[in-house]
Formats: sequence, structure tokens, C-alpha cells
Amino acid sequence: MVNIIPKPAKSEERYGDFVIDINTTIYAEDSLAFARDKFVETVESVCGYRLNVILSPTADINFLVDKKQPREGYIIDCTTEKIHVYASTKAGALYAIQSLRQLALSDLIDNPESLSIHAVYIEDYPKYEWRGLMLDESRHFFGPDAVKSILEMMAFHKLNVFHWHLTDNTGWRIEIKKYPKLTSIGSVRKGTQWKAWGQKDIEWVPYDGFYTQEEIKDIVAYAARLNIMIVPEIDIPAHFAAAIAAYPELGCFNKEIEPFASHKGNNPGEYNIIACAGKDSTFQFVYDVIDELSRLFPAPYFHIGGDEAPKKEWKKCPSCQQVIDDKNLTDEEELQSYMNNKIAVYLKRKGKRLIGWNEILKGKNLERSVIPQYWTYKEDGNVVEWMASGGNVIISKHQAFYFDMPYAQLPLNDTYNFTPDKYGMAKNKHTILGVECTLWTEWISTQLRLDFQMYPRLEAFAEVAWTPDNKKDYDEFLQRLEKFLPTLDKLGKIYCPMHMVHSNFIKKIISPLKFAKRDAHFEFNRAMQYRRRKRVKSIAD
Ligand code: ACM
Ligand code: ZN
Repeated sequence: MVNIIPKPAKSEERYGDFVIDINTTIYAEDSLAFARDKFVETVESVCGYRLNVILSPTADINFLVDKKQPREGYIIDCTTEKIHVYASTKAGALYAIQSLRQLALSDLIDNPESLSIHAVYIEDYPKYEWRGLMLDESRHFFGPDAVKSILEMMAFHKLNVFHWHLTDNTGWRIEIKKYPKLTSIGSVRKGTQWKAWGQKDIEWVPYDGFYTQEEIKDIVAYAARLNIMIVPEIDIPAHFAAAIAAYPELGCFNKEIEPFASHKGNNPGEYNIIACAGKDSTFQFVYDVIDELSRLFPAPYFHIGGDEAPKKEWKKCPSCQQVIDDKNLTDEEELQSYMNNKIAVYLKRKGKRLIGWNEILKGKNLERSVIPQYWTYKEDGNVVEWMASGGNVIISKHQAFYFDMPYAQLPLNDTYNFTPDKYGMAKNKHTILGVECTLWTEWISTQLRLDFQMYPRLEAFAEVAWTPDNKKDYDEFLQRLEKFLPTLDKLGKIYCPMHMVHSNFIKKIISPLKFAKRDAHFEFNRAMQYRRRKRVKSIAD
């Protein structure tokens, strides 16, 4: 068994080990020098010495260009004597290094003077071009170091899209120079309701945080070096209260509000607050924000949210109703499509495609370049229709990829065994750009908790995103995972203990109620108690 997650497309174990020690030499063709340096750094960080770089392809480890390899694919030909890595791009070489790292780390005994890599032959390439992870930093803010560590772990699992949820009702988390109040007012809330959806008590401790544009540039460049594209999400028209708190004229009725301390808002009815689709100034604001963000994020995609948009205010707003009349729109859903289309056209001129959550398909006549991200629990016929007519889609189904859910509700096998066939998407699969897991952070405030929700789900997700379907097998995955967990330990990551990652019929019914109504932290607290008991026992032994 080759111990790599995600499992490679093809792999074959050979006899013996390749040993890296202080005398090992390494070579790379010029265009892969970056990968060579990354490998040298990796070995140095574990063993404390630098490998000898030589200038001819007769080294012990050689990175060679092979134009036949797919864009993110690679070959590793490792015997007891030599390692040859073949790739056509930096990305492929980088993924070869991640595989070598996993092989070395899993074999790492307490002997930092040498690393042994089991001899193997691997031919590998991804299933989906879009292998994403979404982080919500509006509900809780984690900061540059946490984001960089997530990016490193994404690359380790061969994921390549970081979708950054930077604005919502609870806080605006990115500096926009033309609208300074977005951060001076919009990034600060007075408290947080963080017990469970159904609870009301708010902890009145001020909470804030945002990224400066300089920090964003640094993180985008950091990600690019790891073959990760960052796609920002700026929500409009709903999940927009932090912006309205800063600039009340962006709403239909110029209401003075504050960033939300709880998901329903700070006062009755506030949940309905929404950007006004009837004022030119709203569009000017959106275009200005896109202009600034386009200079920071080169990705050819831009996410505008678009989910859970209550239409109550639009129904009463004279400006919104005027647009419905003037443009002959049938209803407020079409008003949202009208808004989306204007933004999509603006983005298109900048070479970007608009992404929105799948509710954006409710209104008709949507621009064809738009990409819905399918998250809703219920089957959405609009998505199936969109695919049938050739539209692209990204899949984040709640039942498989919502990592904020307790394991009792979303067990590991439900993530691993995800297939589009289960959700009416058996046809037109060629329109699927890929898959994305989400980390919503209403109930996640620390890196420790993030890790708990994420591992070992990220491993299961990586195989959904990367490994060919006919190579996936849950029981065999669990065996590899067992061997992979010590690697997570070495990397300092907390994960859900294996006896808690599965569920049963009763737990699947009870846990969502417990999680949503009473205590969103019950499972994490139980896992931490277990870890403490285990540690005390291991010290006592
Ligand atoms: C979502 O979870 N509202 C996209
Ligand atoms: Zn309006």
C-alpha cells in the first residue's frame, strides 16, 4: 500500500528504500528549479542540513520536464538508487514533492539524520480542476498566520482553490481604500452569539479584525507559490449588513444598523436588511470594490454570495419596484438576476466569471458565464437544468462538504463517498468544475477548533477531489488514514479521534437538534476531554 493521501491515480510499490542523507545530490531543469528548492527546504526543515545541488541530471534526485504530463500531473520513479520526478509544470512538480514529503514523513522514525522513502512508481493527475476550500472569516477572524498554515495544508492535500468569505452580516474583513468605514465601522461588532443557532444569549465582548491590502497581497503571493488560486467572496445583496452599518445609504431605507452580533440581527426584522437594487450608487459601490479587489486577486473568478436573500425590503422599496417596472421584470427573484447580470458583465470586462451560491438560479435569464455553487441540502432542479444546458457548477453539498457540522451529523464516510450521481447530477458531469468544502465559523473561534472540524475530513475530501472514482475505496482509505494520522501529529494538527468520526441512525437524528438548538460545541468538548484523559493516562503509564 502506497501511503499517500489523496491516493494517486496509479501507484506500485517496489522493493526497498531510497535513503536521503547529508551526501544526497539533487538536480532540476531550470523551469523546475523552484520545486527543487522547495524540496531542499523541506529536507532542511526536518533534518537540519541542505542537500547538494548539482548541475547535471546525474544526481540522486532529479526533477525533469516531461511535456506529456497533464498540467498538474507528475510521475515519480523511485528506486533504492535514484528518484526521477517528471512534470510539465511547476504545479505538477510541487505535487510530486507533496507525495515525496508524505512518503518521507510517514516513514520518519526518530532519526533526523536520514529520511527513507519507500521505493515506488507513481503516475498521478487530478480528477477535478477545482479542488477548493472555503474559509469564513466574517463570523470569526483568524489572521495571516492561520491562513498561511491552512494554505500549506491545502497544498499538502493537493487542493488548489482557497475561497475566502471575507464579508457578511457579522463583519467586513478587507480594507477598501475608497470606503474606509467598511473596516473602521463594518469590521467591529459589539458581541457574539456563539452557543448554538437556537440560543439567544449574546456575549457582549467587542470583536473585530480585518486584512490590510498589503497583507492580502502577501497571502495571495504565498498561495500562488503553492499552486493555490484565491477567490474572494463579497456578499451582495444579502449577508451585507456590515457594509450597510458603514454606509446606510447602501440599503433600501437608509436604516442605521450595526454589524450583527447574532445571525438574525441585533433587533427584530434586521435579518431582512439587503442592498438596494434600485439605486445606481449601490452598483457604483460594487464596481469600486471590484476594481480594488481585482488589483489584489488575479483569479479569473469572483464570488458574490447571493444566497439567502430575503425579498421583504425589495417588495416595499420604491426604487427597487421602479426597476422591476422599467425593466419588465416578473418579480424580485428576477430583480436579483438583473443585479447579478450587471455585476457579471462588469466582471467579464475584467476577465472574471461571477460565482454565486445556487439560489442565484431562482431568477431566470441569468448570464451564461455565471457559476452556481451548489450547497443546499434539498435537491435543486435549477442546478440540474443549468448543467443540462451546458452551464458550469461547483459542488459544495451540505450533506458531504459542510465541515462545520458535527461528525455525528456529517460522518467521514458521507464526505468520502460523495458522488454527484447521488444528487441528480449523474448526467452532464463534464460541466462540473469541481468540488469545494466549506468552513463556516459561527461556532468556530480558534485554530484548534478549525483543525478539529477539518481533520480527518480534509483527507477524505482530497480523495473526492483528486482520486479517480474507480480507485476509491473507503475501507482501504481508512487503513491509509490510520498511517497518516501520525503525520498530522508531526505537523502539530488536532483531529477528530477516529472513534468519533462515524455515526449511526440515532445520532444522525439527535445530533443536528442538539447542535442547532442547544450547544454547537458538544462534540468538540467531548473530543477534548477524551484527548486530556488519553494524555493523563500516557503520562501515568
Ligand atoms: C450558505 O451556506 N448559506 C451558502
Ligand atoms: Zn431598494
